[in-house]
Amino acid sequence: TRTLSHIFTDILVVGSGVAGLSAAIQASNHSSVLIITKDKIDENNTTYAQGGVAVVLSPGDNISKHKKDTLTAGQGLCNAAVVSKIISEGPKRVQEMIEWGAEFDKENDHLIFTQEGGHGFPRIIRALGDSTGREVENTLIHRIKKNKNIKVFEYTYAIDLITDDNVCHGIAAWHPKKGTTLIWAKQTILATGGCGQVYRETTNPGVATGDGLAMAYRAGAALQDMEFVQFHPTTLYIAGAVRFLITETVRGEGGILLNKNGDRFMPKYHEKAELAPRDVVSQSILKEMRETGNTHVYLDIRHIPRKRLFTRFPKIKEICESFGIDISKDLIPVRPSAHYMIGGIKVNRFSMTTVKHLYACGEAACTGMHGANRLGSNSLLEGLVMGNIAGIEACKSAQGIKTNLTPLSMNEKPGASKISWLDLEDIGNSLKSLMWRNVGIERNEKRLLQAEEMIDMWCKYVMDKEFSNPEGWELQNMLLVASLIVSSAYKRRESRGVHHRTDYPQTDDIHWKKHLVLMK
Ligand code: FAD
Ligand code: SIN
Repeated sequence: TRTLSHIFTDILVVGSGVAGLSAAIQASNHSSVLIITKDKIDENNTTYAQGGVAVVLSPGDNISKHKKDTLTAGQGLCNAAVVSKIISEGPKRVQEMIEWGAEFDKENDHLIFTQEGGHGFPRIIRALGDSTGREVENTLIHRIKKNKNIKVFEYTYAIDLITDDNVCHGIAAWHPKKGTTLIWAKQTILATGGCGQVYRETTNPGVATGDGLAMAYRAGAALQDMEFVQFHPTTLYIAGAVRFLITETVRGEGGILLNKNGDRFMPKYHEKAELAPRDVVSQSILKEMRETGNTHVYLDIRHIPRKRLFTRFPKIKEICESFGIDISKDLIPVRPSAHYMIGGIKVNRFSMTTVKHLYACGEAACTGMHGANRLGSNSLLEGLVMGNIAGIEACKSAQGIKTNLTPLSMNEKPGASKISWLDLEDIGNSLKSLMWRNVGIERNEKRLLQAEEMIDMWCKYVMDKEFSNPEGWELQNMLLVASLIVSSAYKRRESRGVHHRTDYPQTDDIHWKKHLVLMK
């Protein structure tokens, strides 16, 4: 055995996307803050965000209009007080980012506002055309780098929360130089993002394996709304290529969807056609793919002037070009893929989880902002506002703790032996395929039961193993998160928002206008 490394901090933030960085900046006003993040600092969903941030800053728009659109999309499951809070505080947080140097796209010195599906008003601001997340992330990173109260450990993996009697004391982590390390914190904030990686088709980068959701669940925290996984309608579909998102704002700018036969189909499914809510567009694409016997549909933007296209969507132009597609001349092959986890660690309006001294914010958390369906560009907004609130609240609570932190005495067990007969990649790929086939855009009892059975079987020989590297821990987390999605999707016997049960196609307000909460 060898003595474990111990580190002490007032506030520990896990994750370095919009939510984690916002929380850290706020908390650093009165506390020491350590951010740990499992990859390089800017490898996260935030950095890949394209379309923009939905915020009430445009003349003619107002808080109640944005609130109404958000509640309508959420189909009866939004927490109206939280929606009000986030939307009302949004303009302040965005203005603050602009003061910190964020450059959102402007015309004649005025912010440009774009339209996205489900929004009744053009209220989406963007940066660098289609790289909004990169600008948000860089602005926040720049801010923390100047801050002496904030330390960052990159490539440091949070394995599990240290809890005792429903109180969180920090985290057991794996540090690339120190090995297993115990990080003791007065308050811990989980900002670990989503879990798109449990699906074969996803817009999310490799880090989105749902670690925070799994850790919180193991520690006894309540999770909520795990059946609500949002599928983005338009991801570039080329065999062998990563599933690069083609932002919804392409449709906001006039892009139309065509099936294999070259027919425009969205007007027959919804009055708003290509700008219908995402769940409607994704389900309609699936139907067209099935009816025409094709693996994808097409996005057509050839009618938009070339110059405008290239300045408006420079990143999409570049990526498509690398696959021989000229977006001004060619159709873009697209299909839906898993995009956003609406559910997550249940928090109240102060970002507090059901475990004491443990906060959660951003995509890892479930505030009730999005209900059963998230409006595009509402999640960067939520991350900014709720991250900020988590930072303020954690900081207040940390100040109330007078005692110095003392570690529990623990020794590291000898390193887990390498389990050579277990092919982690193969199990991971099988899980992703299963989730895509059986727990995707369309679900039914038979397929959900099949999924449950398969996952249970894999769990039997993966969950009891002791791994000594993130690959193994991530697989365990993905299996756990997948099983929570399946169990909630099975229980909700209705269709609502992004959860579509072909065996229960109606929305059932009498029995199901409620949340499903899961606890160990
Ligand atoms: P993330 O930004 O994902 O950050 C999570 C962090 O946690 C990462 O740094 C990760 O490394 C770290 N982490 C995870 N597990 C561990 C662990 N075990 N140990 C240590 N660190 C860990 N939303 C919008 O509002 N507008 C958009 O235009 C938009 N476009 C999008 C485009 C794409 C392609 C994608 C994938 C998402 C998009 N979204 C958009 C959604 C939005 O980007 C995310 O919901 C949001 O950025 C999540 O922020 P976050 O801080 O909660 O998580
Ligand atoms: C997009 O740009 O289409 C993604 C926006 C979002 O997920 O909020």
